[in-house]
This record gives sequence, C-alpha cells and structure tokens, in this order.
Amino acid sequence: MPKSDDPNHAALISAAQRAMHNAYAPYSNFQVGAAILAEDGNIYAGCNVENAAYPVGCCAEASAISAMVMSGQTSIAAIAVVGAGDELCTPCGGCRQRIREFSSESTPILVCDQNGLRHETTLGELLPLSFGPDNLQP
Ligand code: THU
Repeated sequence: MPKSDDPNHAALISAAQRAMHNAYAPYSNFQVGAAILAEDGNIYAGCNVENAAYPVGCCAEASAISAMVMSGQTSIAAIAVVGAGDELCTPCGGCRQRIREFSSESTPILVCDQNGLRHETTLGELLPLSFGPDNLQP
C-alpha cells in the first residue's frame, strides 16, 4: 500500500473514511467520503447524498467543499476521497472542476479506500490545462 510522506494526511484519510459511513446512497449503493485539509489547518468532510431524482444528487467532494466554504475557507491544501470497489475512486469530472476552483496544480489528491491510501495524485494531473478563476480576471 502506498504511503503519503505528509504527516497531516493520516488524519485527512481517517476523516474521509468516517465521512463515507454517513453517505446517503440508497440508489447507487456506492458510498463515498471526502475530506479537505484547508489553509486554516482544519479538516472539512463530506459524503455523497443521493435522492430519488438521480442526477441531482451531491458528490462527497462537493459536500466537503460546501462545508469548507461555509466556514470561510477557500483554499484546499489537500483532499482525500474514499470509495469502495476494486477500481480507484478518483473524483468525477464535475468534482475535478469543483476542486480546481480552490486548488493549485500541485494540490495533492489522495485516492483511498477503507484500508487507506491507494494512489496519490495532483489536481494538475487529473485536470490538465484546466479553465479556472484566472481565466476570468479582467
Ligand atoms: N460519487 C462521489 O460522491 N464522488 C465521485 O467523485 C464519484 C461518484 C458518488 C455520486 C453517486 O452518489 C455515487 O458516487 C455513484 O456514482
């Protein structure tokens, strides 16, 4: 199993694992947890929240971003995502753009499962040549 060299990452991964257990995913039965280490040093967690009108559910990353922004934070130092299954649970396309809004190219993205870290990547790797806030500067 790969090991992150950042000591803050163990707490971040546990927070995402705990969040996953709160997921409301009766339609997909695919529970996801996410946790963000923000610039203030605090961790903001979220889970996926589905509903009967399938497409309007909320991803775990989006929930975690909402919690962070609600607390006045707008900078992601690192984010962990935890999902089940054999495949890596990487952020979906929409969530890559959501993370992009509050990250830099080098922001670590920790792709995890219930046992811990499986793959460490960056926002720049997952969303190269991205469009972001700088594009809209006058
Ligand atoms: N899901 C997430 O929460 N994050 C992702 O990045 C991938 C997918 C959720 C959405 C839906 O509730 C379930 O996983 C199945 O797609």
